Amino acid sequence: MLSRPRRNRKSEAIRKMSQETRLDVSQLIYPLFVEDGKKYSSEIKSLPGNFRRSQDLTLKEIESCLKLGLTNFILFPSVNEKFKDKKATYSYHKNNFYLKLIREIKNEFPESCLVSDVAMDPYSTDGHDGLYNNGEILNDETLPILAKMAVAQAEAGIDIIGPSDMMDGRIAFLRNALDTEGFSTTSIMSYTAKYASAFYGPFRDALDSAPKKGNKKTYQMNPANRREALREAMLDCNEGADFLMVKPALHYLDVIQELKAKSQLPIAAYHVSGECAMLLAACKNGWLSYEKAMPETLISIKRAGADIILTYFAKDFAKLISQDKI
Ligand code: PBG
Repeated sequence: MLSRPRRNRKSEAIRKMSQETRLDVSQLIYPLFVEDGKKYSSEIKSLPGNFRRSQDLTLKEIESCLKLGLTNFILFPSVNEKFKDKKATYSYHKNNFYLKLIREIKNEFPESCLVSDVAMDPYSTDGHDGLYNNGEILNDETLPILAKMAVAQAEAGIDIIGPSDMMDGRIAFLRNALDTEGFSTTSIMSYTAKYASAFYGPFRDALDSAPKKGNKKTYQMNPANRREALREAMLDCNEGADFLMVKPALHYLDVIQELKAKSQLPIAAYHVSGECAMLLAACKNGWLSYEKAMPETLISIKRAGADIILTYFAKDFAKLISQDKI
């Protein structure tokens, strides 16, 4: 036998030497749910191990992640119903706790990298990502609201804004708004290919942000489409995005591979709440080993072509690495 692939698997050293894909904590972004208050934390039932936390406890959580080498966070606000309205005005209000928190984190931990969410749903009484009128989600009329939100976040010191509403013309409009207000160094991570997925359930539980009426199918993508993701990617590249995102991740590995092959920007993959919850549930039942299945899941997303992974497992992955278990 001339060719024996098993020779490259014969020892741990050789296996590691010939390993094709590696995942580093620096490539992970950890989603955190934040809520206004003090000393408050509440576990998300459908996503065990993840919490909605008040500002003080969020700062503590970030500090403990930094100690593990985990520096990147995406922050999602859980907004009190009394501040919600049809036009999401609280999203750029000067007393907005989310904006204050961004300031505090960047003051205390300037080495952290923060990603924001730019969409109306956490602040909207309709629970939709854009302005809602008589069953219709208005595309262009939503743009000035998103621009105000993005500029307010940039003023607060956000490193990367994350327009997540999956509607048209977002990147060019927001890039222009940021530049006009003097924030040309604020980056944009575009939710380029975000699907109308059934796997966002635990996230919507966490933020109580499910649409009050209808669904998101007129703006999020049809799960059956791959070529359409390329069309979106081309638009975002031309409009000035700095990162392209595919969301969800595990069920869309082919889309990740496609965008990686056909674009020049770093590809981020959002390993979403429902995808993490599935694995957690199986592990809780003793059907899978978390320490083994979790890193295998993340490396598969990396292998498909993701440069960056947003995952609720980021901290646990960092812990396993620090304990030399990976
Ligand atoms: C909405 C938004 C969603 C997620 C991130 N931003 C859900 C939605 O589209 O309703 C989901 C993330 C997850 O499930 O982990 N702006």
